[in-house]
Amino acid sequence: MLKLLLIYLSQAQWARNLIQNWGFAKRTAARFVAGETLDDAVAVVQDLRQEGICTTLDHLGEHVTSPENARKAAEEIIQIINRLSREGICSGISVKLSQIGLVVDPDLCEENLRRIMNRALQEKVYIRIDMEDSTLTQMTLDLFRKVRDEGYAEYIGIVIQSSLYRSVQDVKDLLANDSKIRLCKGAYKEPRDIAFPRKSDVDENFDLITCLMLDKSLELGSQVSQEGGIPPLPAIATHDQKRVEFACKYAQEIGLDKTGLEFQMLHGIREDLQTALVQEGYPVRIYVPYGQEWYPYFVRRLAERPANLWFFLSNLIRR
Ligand code: FDA
Repeated sequence: MLKLLLIYLSQAQWARNLIQNWGFAKRTAARFVAGETLDDAVAVVQDLRQEGICTTLDHLGEHVTSPENARKAAEEIIQIINRLSREGICSGISVKLSQIGLVVDPDLCEENLRRIMNRALQEKVYIRIDMEDSTLTQMTLDLFRKVRDEGYAEYIGIVIQSSLYRSVQDVKDLLANDSKIRLCKGAYKEPRDIAFPRKSDVDENFDLITCLMLDKSLELGSQVSQEGGIPPLPAIATHDQKRVEFACKYAQEIGLDKTGLEFQMLHGIREDLQTALVQEGYPVRIYVPYGQEWYPYFVRRLAERPANLWFFLSNLIRR
């Protein structure tokens, strides 16, 4: 119930207007968000690099409602690629298609994605298409496939959510074309007729899809690139230790090298687990969000873990 309310609040414009300019909320969100500027995010990327951890940058923003803003968001992503290239910073970028116009005009979104991918290919920067709520799943997959097949396959990947019933079939279809996949549980509240209502089923499906991805990685001999910029085919994106242990065990059983998969986590969450995996020799990539549009991202993090909400509220009371 609380989770439902928070997910509703993450999408409510009135709540965003109320919270986004509130200094206290901004300071609390700083646990999950690298800062408001690209400079802030680059500093986090460089610190993580020192610890042997790779990154994917996310310039926060979603559900853009005008063509001008969609074009502007795409241009900003191109500017990130330029900066990474100019300064020799090794990092991927995560992009939400609703940020570059999917909801306003799918043709414009396609044009924007192609512009981003052109630049990404020139500079060898990897782009991951985040997955949003289920109203956008099919459109996101269709556009991903279309652009992937225009010669960008090595530099573009997609996200699949184990919470959706359709995901096993989607993964089989994507793997048939050797697509790179980040597997996560899914951050959105979805209706029961399309998504598992029980967490244990989401977890079981996560493990099942993990096996499909790791088998494919073994078959292809897929590996993370030497400097870490380009991920291998499977990215296991979770802070759930049981899912991580399952993936490690299955990889060992089938004889998949540690560099044939990577673990991904969000900035500020389970740093102990991030470090332990690096020490064991697994590639680890951290999702580093930054920007002024931190509100929906922050509230989704509160929804995932009630303890975060209590932390927020208790700090508020103590002020
Ligand atoms: P679960 O929620 O079961 O949590 C397991 C444990 O992890 C908890 O017990 C706690 O210890 C820790 N934990 C999890 N969330 C926490 C939080 N917010 N604060 C503190 N501790 C926490 N989703 C999506 O729909 N589309 C996408 O594109 C992406 N992209 C993405 C990229 C990356 C790199 C990651 C790690 C995650 C995503 N997600 C996502 C989010 C994902 O779907 C999911 O909501 C979160 O990862 C939380 O689920 P867990 O797998 O961590 O498991």
